[in-house]
Amino acid sequence: MEIKTAEFSISSPRVSLCPDDTKPEYAFIGRSNVGKSSLINMLCRNKKLAKTSSTPGKTLLINHFIINKQWYLVDLPGYGFAKRSKSELAKIEQMIRGYILERQQLVNVFVLIDVRLEPQAIDLEFMEWLGVSQIPFSIIFTKADKISALKVKNNIEAYKKKLLETWEELPPYFVTSAEKQDGRDDVLNYIEEINNGLRESIS
Ligand code: GTP
Ligand code: MG
Repeated sequence: MEIKTAEFSISSPRVSLCPDDTKPEYAFIGRSNVGKSSLINMLCRNKKLAKTSSTPGKTLLINHFIINKQWYLVDLPGYGFAKRSKSELAKIEQMIRGYILERQQLVNVFVLIDVRLEPQAIDLEFMEWLGVSQIPFSIIFTKADKISALKVKNNIEAYKKKLLETWEELPPYFVTSAEKQDGRDDVLNYIEEINNGLRESIS
């Protein structure tokens, strides 16, 4: 799929203030600093679209970006950033979970996982919550440029094994590097397939 236009739409502190239209949307979620905003910029080939930072906790609101004037990419704040106050953490958690549970237009959640790390409880628990809540999701492994190709392969095998302890089936997954633009076509084609399916089901 070609991205012809990618524009910032709105930042919202809660789901009730998100864009009031019916276009499908795809949200990016994961731990702070995993590379959600960088991935959105990579997909859109615009480094300035979503704000990124080497310090965790950059994205604080629900950010909508309209793509080809037809569908949205949604950048969310990260979870699990220890240096926030308890009330701040609770507020962000509420924002993320409220958005995911209530947003009718949300067709798929991409859970971002840093490919360098061993499976983390916080991510596994979040995916379990998505499963229990019946929210369709896929996994995007990020920062693949930071380790060797062999290590990427081994880490993903280990991750799959861990998931199969609780899941009967593995979700679709993608391997990406925002730095090297790897995995861009895979993710965009996947979104396009879902968009096409939605169009068919409407017509
Ligand atoms: P929060 O908004 O704080 O939750 O973080 P985020 O998940 O949006 O992360 P962000 O995109 O701001 O990236 C965090 C840091 O990781 C930045 O310094 C990015 O440059 C870096 N980064 C993100 N993706 C990649 C990648 O694929 N490769 C490399 N080498 N660095 C990356
Ligand atoms: Mg961010």
